[in-house]
Amino acid sequence: MIKNPYILSIESSCDDTSAAVLQGNKVLSNVVFTQIAHKEYGGVIPELASREHIQKIIPVVNEAISKAEIKKSDLSAIAVTQGPGLLGSLIVGVSFAKSLAQSLSIPIISVNHMHAHVLANFSSEPYPEFPFLCLTVSGGHTQLVKVNDYTDMEIIGQTIDDAAGEAFDKAGKMLGLPYPAGPEIDRNAKNGNPKFEFSKAKVDKYAFSFSGFKTSVLYFLRDQIKQNENFIEQNLPDLCASIQKNICDVLIEKTEKAAIEYKINTLALAGGVSANSQLRSDFQTMCKKNNWNCHIPAFQYCTDNAGMIGLAAYYKYKAGIFDQLDLVPDPRLSFQS
Ligand code: KG4
Ligand code: ZN
Repeated sequence: MIKNPYILSIESSCDDTSAAVLQGNKVLSNVVFTQIAHKEYGGVIPELASREHIQKIIPVVNEAISKAEIKKSDLSAIAVTQGPGLLGSLIVGVSFAKSLAQSLSIPIISVNHMHAHVLANFSSEPYPEFPFLCLTVSGGHTQLVKVNDYTDMEIIGQTIDDAAGEAFDKAGKMLGLPYPAGPEIDRNAKNGNPKFEFSKAKVDKYAFSFSGFKTSVLYFLRDQIKQNENFIEQNLPDLCASIQKNICDVLIEKTEKAAIEYKINTLALAGGVSANSQLRSDFQTMCKKNNWNCHIPAFQYCTDNAGMIGLAAYYKYKAGIFDQLDLVPDPRLSFQS
């Protein structure tokens, strides 16, 4: 086995077509094409996503290889997201990765997208020490993960309905913001006051629930608009700040409780929502207050990217875990597989 193998990784689980090249655990290139075709529909259209992946995968892979200044023949393995995600989108990445691996006669390594989000915390030093507790917040998932090792992680709490990113996106949609609304809420919240209160779900210990919050935003807006049809435009920054605070407070509260109960003093953040400025700052404040080590990936490793897929694959490569060419995508890939 090569000590610092060149690995090409591919991510196509949702609406980002991405490819990266790593040398060992060092990311040499990380190219992300974010599909804009979905904007006008207010959410990701699966069929549209697969077609965009088909069009973009070759140029994105070529760009990643040329930016890394290597040749295809230098590669030791091809890594690809197996799931969870959209079936049609995953098929594009997996089929492409299998063809390339076969043509170069090198192994293929499948990666669980949710493990990769966690392992994005190894994109720069200092690396978190095991065991650590990771709050993964994305458009499709909200998970509190106890990370025992690179390939050994367990979920100790997750959402029972909407994910945190979905809560941002759906609340933003009610405000008329374009998809994905998370970054828009973040931007508008900077000039706002979190003066409006929305409901917080009372669910089991480390479970999360955002569907009640969503309904509470909907009813609140409906009542206000009845009295003043310009309510949203006149209060946009305060509404964004209030929505953001509600979501962040729940996430921080539960994470803090879990870290105390599990006696874990190294914490990490992951997933697209970890790009949120308030969440990043609240997470750091919580860690400082409790004297915990705090790890937050750089922005480009928070949202979907192939760099994190390559990192997860590198640790599988080191552990000697490879796949065969009969690999199939799994849109509902379980966290433990
Ligand atoms: O991890 P990700 O890129 O894709 C999934 O695997 O789902 O996460 C996308 C989610 C979207 O819901 C988006 O609104 C949210 O991350 N997001 C943010 C921010 N940037 C991205 N949410 C709040 N604030 C942000 N700055
Ligand atoms: Zn993701």
